[in-house]
Amino acid sequence: MKQDDFSLFQSLLRQRSGLVLSIDKAYLLESRLMPVARKWHYKNLEEMAGAIRSRREEKLLKDITEAMTTNESSFFRDVKPFDQFKAIVLPRLLTARAQTRKLRIWSAACSSGQEAYSLAMMLQEEKARLSGWTIEIVGTDISVEVLEKARAGLYTQFEVQRGLPISMLVKYFQQLGDKWQLVPEIRRMVTFKEFNLLDRYDSLGRFDIVFCRNVLIYFEQATKTAVLRSIADLMPPDGVLYLGGAETVLGITDRFKPIDGQRGIYSPVPAGGTAAGSGTGAGAGATTAASGSRAQSAAPLSGLRKAAAS
Ligand SMILES: C[S@@+](CC[C@H](N)C(=O)[O-])C[C@H]1O[C@@H](n2cnc3c(N)ncnc32)[C@H](O)[C@@H]1O
Repeated sequence: MKQDDFSLFQSLLRQRSGLVLSIDKAYLLESRLMPVARKWHYKNLEEMAGAIRSRREEKLLKDITEAMTTNESSFFRDVKPFDQFKAIVLPRLLTARAQTRKLRIWSAACSSGQEAYSLAMMLQEEKARLSGWTIEIVGTDISVEVLEKARAGLYTQFEVQRGLPISMLVKYFQQLGDKWQLVPEIRRMVTFKEFNLLDRYDSLGRFDIVFCRNVLIYFEQATKTAVLRSIADLMPPDGVLYLGGAETVLGITDRFKPIDGQRGIYSPVPAGGTAAGSGTGAGAGATTAASGSRAQSAAPLSGLRKAAAS
């Protein structure tokens, strides 16, 4: 691929999804974008790049952005965060929200839904103690293709064999041909919608718990900082953020603090303030902030796409 064509795709992806591609990933660009070129009847990527230069067809740009997303996911991925959520974070938040009996959970960059549904199944297992509670789980992703799959809740044999306890497969899935579909009861617990982490967050509402795992790794530092600040603005001081195993807030933002002794989970710090319970968040049973309270927000966000593009 010619250098200027690579640069065109590289800057397009950085601006539209935050994805940072170095030249050694040119092969990835070729293998993932060739099917898009064929779909749009271009002979090769060079021709597709030429077409983009002459006219920015939004649908084509969207196809390119989607094709370059990495949608790898699995049920109860990494196991520990889910065990930890069930054993520590959930009980503390249930105490903290005893008055309102409301919890909102966000699976940001949810891919085909395994993360959100893992939480739904886990909460369903706790249904006796959650009677009378309103628990909302929202899954969002930039890719409409993975969201369609998430909404269908339909998975291959291979996908249900990765990380899902057999007891949950039996209890919460129905076999449909050679695939497995989550029962309506679990599917109904999650709402999926399209959302680009680079866009404005105003429409999302507040979240007590945010799982934002295995997506920041694709972004450059300025984008990570901006995304984390926007997430912090949506959370009460005793909320909890989960990041992926290869991700951290350290050196990236002071709007989250690690929760003592708990790897990969963080509590939000109000803009210009300190974390609830001095960095122990829900882990310390910080109970002051109701789900609806608003943390002080950082300087108004003029669109994260700018951060990605700068
Ligand atoms: C590797 S998957 C992670 C899925 C899940 N969180 C997990 O850890 O198993 C990364 C997801 O991030 C999504 N993604 C990439 N850039 C995004 C953006 N700017 N906004 C929202 N989602 C994005 C991709 O479409 C993909 O589904």
